[in-house]
Amino acid sequence: MKVVYVPKCCWIVLISYCFLQLCCTSVSSECFPPGDPIKCSSGTSDCTVTNSQGSFPDRSDCRAADAVFPTTEIELISAIADATKNNRKMKVATRYSHSFPKLVCPDGEDSLLISTKNMNQILRVDREAKTMTVQSGVTLKQLIQEAAKSELVLTHSPYWWGLTVGGMMGTGAHGSSWWLRGSSVHDYVIELRLISPGNAEEGYYKNVTLKEGDADLDAAKVSLGVLGVISQVTFKLESRFKRSITFRETDDDSGLGEEVVNFGKMHEFGDITWYPSQHEVLYRIDDRVPSTTPGNGVNQYFGFRSTAKAALEANRKLEETAERFGFDDTKCLLGEAVSSSLRAIAFGLTNNGFLFTGYPIVGYQDQLQSAGGCLTPGGIGSCLLPSYCAWDPRIDGQFYFNDGFNIKASNLKSFIEDIQKLVQLEPKSMCGVELYNGFFMRYVSASTAYLGKDEDGVDFDITYYRSKDPLAPRMFEDILEEIEQMAVFKYGGTPHWGKNRNIAFEGVIKKYKDGEKFIEVKQRYDPLGLFSNEWTEQVLGLKQGLSIYKDGCALEGLCICSEDSHCAPNRGYFCRPGRVYTEAKVCSNVQSITDM
Ligand SMILES: *[C@@H]1O[C@H](CO)[C@@H](O)[C@H](O)[C@H]1NC(C)=O
Repeated sequence: MKVVYVPKCCWIVLISYCFLQLCCTSVSSECFPPGDPIKCSSGTSDCTVTNSQGSFPDRSDCRAADAVFPTTEIELISAIADATKNNRKMKVATRYSHSFPKLVCPDGEDSLLISTKNMNQILRVDREAKTMTVQSGVTLKQLIQEAAKSELVLTHSPYWWGLTVGGMMGTGAHGSSWWLRGSSVHDYVIELRLISPGNAEEGYYKNVTLKEGDADLDAAKVSLGVLGVISQVTFKLESRFKRSITFRETDDDSGLGEEVVNFGKMHEFGDITWYPSQHEVLYRIDDRVPSTTPGNGVNQYFGFRSTAKAALEANRKLEETAERFGFDDTKCLLGEAVSSSLRAIAFGLTNNGFLFTGYPIVGYQDQLQSAGGCLTPGGIGSCLLPSYCAWDPRIDGQFYFNDGFNIKASNLKSFIEDIQKLVQLEPKSMCGVELYNGFFMRYVSASTAYLGKDEDGVDFDITYYRSKDPLAPRMFEDILEEIEQMAVFKYGGTPHWGKNRNIAFEGVIKKYKDGEKFIEVKQRYDPLGLFSNEWTEQVLGLKQGLSIYKDGCALEGLCICSEDSHCAPNRGYFCRPGRVYTEAKVCSNVQSITDM
């Protein structure tokens, strides 16, 4: 039994937090779906665009002279041809704009945003061939629901509904599986149509349809949006099937390094949640079952439901207070409370659309594969309190970093054991991550996509506190920085294109065997780089300046510290080597190390 000390005042906040969380989730008539990431001050001119967090890694603004909202391919072509003729920089933006890095920012004074918000039509469903063709602004939710109407399903997908087809293609979004075609959505694409800039003879645009077998499809399937705008995509689906899900919990994580590869081979839809400070591992045992198996499970994932603003803000206050005063025990207590409550309710997975009554949860793929209650909230009953997605920037709720990197199978054991060594040195260091449900591990297999994955591996998803003040160091700043650098440099992990902080992308293109091929395709489709911006050029290794050096830059992952001023020397944080990966350079609280 672990004993933790919690100041009295925190109990009150904690209890009221739990109360609000339980009472006021997903049952609100005052529910606020996510806002629009594009805002224009005069009609569709003088615009800004942001991401779902309302803040890019460098906290800068993103402007565009104009925004267009085409509904058809003809309108899309005319927007691209017009802008190309006038040599304007362009960027494609999606309905919710979920990517953390600045993939969406068009450079230059006279830039244009092309939103796919209104390109949201299902174009064709072929039940015989089990294929479906959709416009690129269709959301994952729509894709899943429309396919199900024809008794078809997408074999794998991300767990969050609020992504668009084009956005998933842009960033290599995935679910969890090493089986068959794997878990990446782009590996289920059999045809894709791309509209790119063209020369005067071409009418200033190209309209290219790429099919399975065309080499360029491997570039277009994960494209960072630099080839042009994807107009439509055809997916290979399969007949509706059922899955059976059981979570198995263990409070001994010593064998995780060994187990992770076996587990991926054993279960078609398995994933792992790891709580390193609690030494807990949660295995999601998740496989296909005959459709005669009884069960109508529905995924109502708790973290994606609308939550009362008051609860989210109280939670944030508590986290900020714990950070400010260095209450690591409070964080550990909260981390345990959050993770054990979530486990008790199976994370919001239900056996029947209402309640969790026990394992296994059996249901149809389309009901279980993904969720996102806060996108269209207010379904069940009503509540008096205003509610939002937890990260909605319009309220003072969650604000976090989200690291996501893929570690290849042969490195998994050493990587996990290195993290375990760090936790041995600092047992409470991961409590803050456990507040965001720990290390989330999903299986992603090798892909022919040039910017997909070269080998089978596991994607680690780690979410943790980000201060509203860019110069404020975090609790256990050094440990998280060391894990980040270990993942991408020591173990050569590839960062998720739509997540992460700047430093994770240092040298990324050299990690891909087909990185050069991708750049060659990009030059061919968009020789003037109208769809490229500073960020994509830096990530592709075509421009310097990915790391930004200034006071406190390492705190935000804009740089790896090389001098103390990159940390927060006035608050006791100095640039020091890592403790397990000694080549790492991290911001350490020298005070707390000498205290021990
Ligand atoms: C784009 O090309 C395809 C054939 O490759 C054609 O069917 C389609 O109509 C074209 N789109 C427009 C708007 O001309």
